[in-house]
Amino acid sequence: MVPLKRRKVVASQTGNTGTEGGDEVKFPQVVLFLLERKMGASRRAFLSQLGRKKGFPVQELFSQTVTHVICENNSVEEVKTWLESRGGSRPAPHLLDISWFTESMRAGEPLEILDRHKLQEQQRDESEVVFFSVPSYACQRRTSLENHNAPLTEALSLLAENAELSEDDGRGVAFGRAAAVLKALPSLVTSMSQLRGLPCLGEHSLKVIKEILENGTSSEVESTKKSERYQALKVLTGIFGVGAKTAERWIRGGIRSLHQLRQAGRTLNRAQQAGLEHYDDINQPVTKAEAELIMETVEKAVASVLPGAQTVLTGGFRRGKLTGHDVDFLITHPEEGREVGLMPKVVSWLQSEGFLLYQKTTRNSYLESKDGPGRPASSMDRFERCFSIFKLSKEEETRTEDPQEETGNGDPNSTKVMDKQSQWRAVRVDLVVSPISQFAFALLGWTGSKLFERELRRWAGHERSMSLSSHALFDNTQSKYLRASSEEEIFAHLGLEYIPPSQRNA
Ligand code: CTP
Ligand code: MN
Ligand code: MN
Repeated sequence: MVPLKRRKVVASQTGNTGTEGGDEVKFPQVVLFLLERKMGASRRAFLSQLGRKKGFPVQELFSQTVTHVICENNSVEEVKTWLESRGGSRPAPHLLDISWFTESMRAGEPLEILDRHKLQEQQRDESEVVFFSVPSYACQRRTSLENHNAPLTEALSLLAENAELSEDDGRGVAFGRAAAVLKALPSLVTSMSQLRGLPCLGEHSLKVIKEILENGTSSEVESTKKSERYQALKVLTGIFGVGAKTAERWIRGGIRSLHQLRQAGRTLNRAQQAGLEHYDDINQPVTKAEAELIMETVEKAVASVLPGAQTVLTGGFRRGKLTGHDVDFLITHPEEGREVGLMPKVVSWLQSEGFLLYQKTTRNSYLESKDGPGRPASSMDRFERCFSIFKLSKEEETRTEDPQEETGNGDPNSTKVMDKQSQWRAVRVDLVVSPISQFAFALLGWTGSKLFERELRRWAGHERSMSLSSHALFDNTQSKYLRASSEEEIFAHLGLEYIPPSQRNA
């Protein structure tokens, strides 16, 4: 260590760097400034006084003459930001940890600045700053419904949605992954430094996050929300059967609202007609209670046409969500093959009982010989889907809410004329039938979330050289299908820790 030359200088020579108490300035070549943030005012006052007593010039206010900024528990980014807010300083002062100060006090002279004295990332106080560590694939981590960073994730999700509506899928996925990483964090993010090292946070997402942390809102999110194009895309794709492409075409044709669409006299397909007719109902969230009522009806239908067949609730409700945009069911039979032809029978039953406002059944074209495991190539249509609009009677809800309804009020002519809204509502319902041999894959595939599913497939492909679908898991290395009769087995095949449905809310 090179000892610094001691010089005795009187206070008046050093301007405002002085020593109010009349302490002699021994080291005019160093001008200290102690940062109050995190250190606190009283500790700062005490340390400043100590410094002056030892002959160090300590400035009360920051100025260009400061050569050493002393910090306690501050990150280097934080101090640099603060310095910039002061208009910077030329030459830049040393940004030092409190350790340099205390050691210099002990030595009675300014010590040579060693690397460990310099404010560095690792010198942040780990107990003060909350660091997060998150694995990069959503299927490697747990994401509950508890979201500690809703303002950030909602902003990023909106940008993801806007990108998807604009058919910019790459950007949609990028924003979606960034939102998912923040959803998985165990507590609130308060500073950018906490995000260091987190996966999937690209430049654009970080810019949005930074703006929200600093100003409370993101200008890009606000302008997107206000944009006519985004609003029109949202309204039009809110129609069941209308995707981004169709909405875009209509917008180019000057259609921006449901009213304009009706006026324009466009030819709508059957799904879109039903979607437009039941627009308000379909865009109103489905509650868990409503999902359970529909479940009862679906179970009744299934039991009537194939005793022994089983129905499970999948989608968001299986993940524990309290509301959803639809209700998803997976149906199977414990004896392989018994499920063949089940879907048309279930649909017919529901139709004859007046439960369906719309339905479209698609046959399964999945072949083991071509695409995955299952049964002989002769039976093709075992894995079927039905996208439907269910007519959910509100009778029971009304009755329990209003006991007068059951007992009557004495006047036989006073039958309350209820409008349509109070008697039933339209609910989107998805039905899927799977053979038992594929049930675990179908269950995993239809439980979601969509991002969790996408990440599972990406993990399988990129990290395991396997192909995962709602039917099967194929190991490309061994050139064989990996069977599974439970979701746990599929996670195990993929080399992933099992994540229960309630933790798949990525
Ligand atoms: N799914 C699918 N094929 C489709 C539609 C959906 O495989 N054509 C899968 C999705 O990947 C997801 C699950 O079905 O895993 C549920 O999809 P969806 O009902 O759209 O989403 P939820 O997570 O249930 O959300 P919500 O509660 O809003 O319905
Ligand atoms: Mn759903
Ligand atoms: Mn669905």
